Amino acid sequence: MEPLRAVKGMNDLLPTEARAFARIEAAARRVFERHGYGEVRTPLVEEAALFSRSIGEETDVVGKEMYVFPDRHGVPLALRPEGTAGAVRAFIEHGAAAAPIVRWFYAGPMFRHERPQKGRYRQFHQIGVELLGAAAPEADAELIGAAAAFLAEIGISGTRLLVNSIGDDACRPAYVDKLRDFLHARAAELCPDCRRRAGTNPLRALDCKVAQDRVILGEAPVPGDSLCEPCRAHFATLLGHLRALGLSPIHEPHLVRGLDYYTRTTFEILAGGDLGSQNTVAAGGRYDKLVERLGGPAVPAVGFAAGIERLVLALGGAPAPAPGPDLFIAALGDAARRRALVLAQAARAASLRVEIDPRSGSLKSQMRWADRTSAAFVLVLGEDELAAGRAPLKQMGSRGGGAPGAQEDVALDAVAGEVRRRLAPGSDDRGQPGLS
Ligand code: HAM
Repeated sequence: MEPLRAVKGMNDLLPTEARAFARIEAAARRVFERHGYGEVRTPLVEEAALFSRSIGEETDVVGKEMYVFPDRHGVPLALRPEGTAGAVRAFIEHGAAAAPIVRWFYAGPMFRHERPQKGRYRQFHQIGVELLGAAAPEADAELIGAAAAFLAEIGISGTRLLVNSIGDDACRPAYVDKLRDFLHARAAELCPDCRRRAGTNPLRALDCKVAQDRVILGEAPVPGDSLCEPCRAHFATLLGHLRALGLSPIHEPHLVRGLDYYTRTTFEILAGGDLGSQNTVAAGGRYDKLVERLGGPAVPAVGFAAGIERLVLALGGAPAPAPGPDLFIAALGDAARRRALVLAQAARAASLRVEIDPRSGSLKSQMRWADRTSAAFVLVLGEDELAAGRAPLKQMGSRGGGAPGAQEDVALDAVAGEVRRRLAPGSDDRGQPGLS
């Protein structure tokens, strides 16, 4: 029978990769908790209307990429394509707006039916951060600073920070008119989607992925030329704050990001590399109208999300595998095998990583397996060792300080302490930063 395969663009994470993800998520928790953010977990499935109302019907994310399906009562549901809409829904639903400032972060899978390629998947993972309740540019600056601190914590350097302002309800309509005129004037050269967007949602033309359109849209009017005074002042202050934080912002006048909820600030952080738009490791912006648009009070907000797969790519892909066990117990005979189970359990309780070979193989095959697992030490247990209450503890590689191959008899009830002593700080590779 043909074995079934995973859905295209949805990837299995095997232990080495899952470990890299877990480390990135742990770093995110450390950094964002330091900034006062608390973790939230919202459902993977929401009513589809939540996303069309927040991200916008005319966006690629909602119009082309969202996984939508009816539940058993015919209610249209969607696999979440991003985390902001669900976070804002939860913020309103749980009355979180009663607090003046709310700082939330989340990590988990998102789903978009995009064309799979390196750095672009149909199930991908985001770490998202939302700061609700502050309209001032200090909020934008602090949030972007937190994004930069997170990237530094996981060891990504040499990034570029692109920022822009797309104005607000006061000044954006005038800009959108100018953009619409431009799109109408150049309609014959644009793709059918952009010709349609000229009528429905001109701003979305600026995210068009068609190469020829991108060239033409490079000549389109920019929002910066139409900003009202408060938006201009917000953006100027933000740029100043970012420079003061040492973040070297680059003003990218056409940067709008592909989601309708943004007002004023938009930004993205690019890692080095040759993956084109897949180099964008983090992106976000201000969304001062979204809480109201979803039925909540008028609460300004700003946020961003980073793609974990892209962070792993930016870190150089395949990370080092997990280190082998601290101790491997090889045992011969029923009584020794039982004692091995008990000794292993006790040593694990003392925080050691311990493996046994659960097959009933020869000593030779157990030693082969011990070698394959890259164990630091092997304890060999047979009937004689059980009777004597002592067994040889053999050093396998260089971890543990002694010479590889050196062995010494150790009392069985002292094995865990002995291994811990030899692997004491300096020789233990746990707790190192980065992905190794
Ligand atoms: P976004 O720009 O759509 O924003 O996505 C944020 C990040 O998620 C991207 O920069 C990228 O790293 C990653 N990403 C997006 N799509 C894919 C994909 N198909 N495969 C792999 N990685 C992907 C948002 O989602 C907003 N919710 C961000 C935000 C939060 N704005 C305000 N608050």
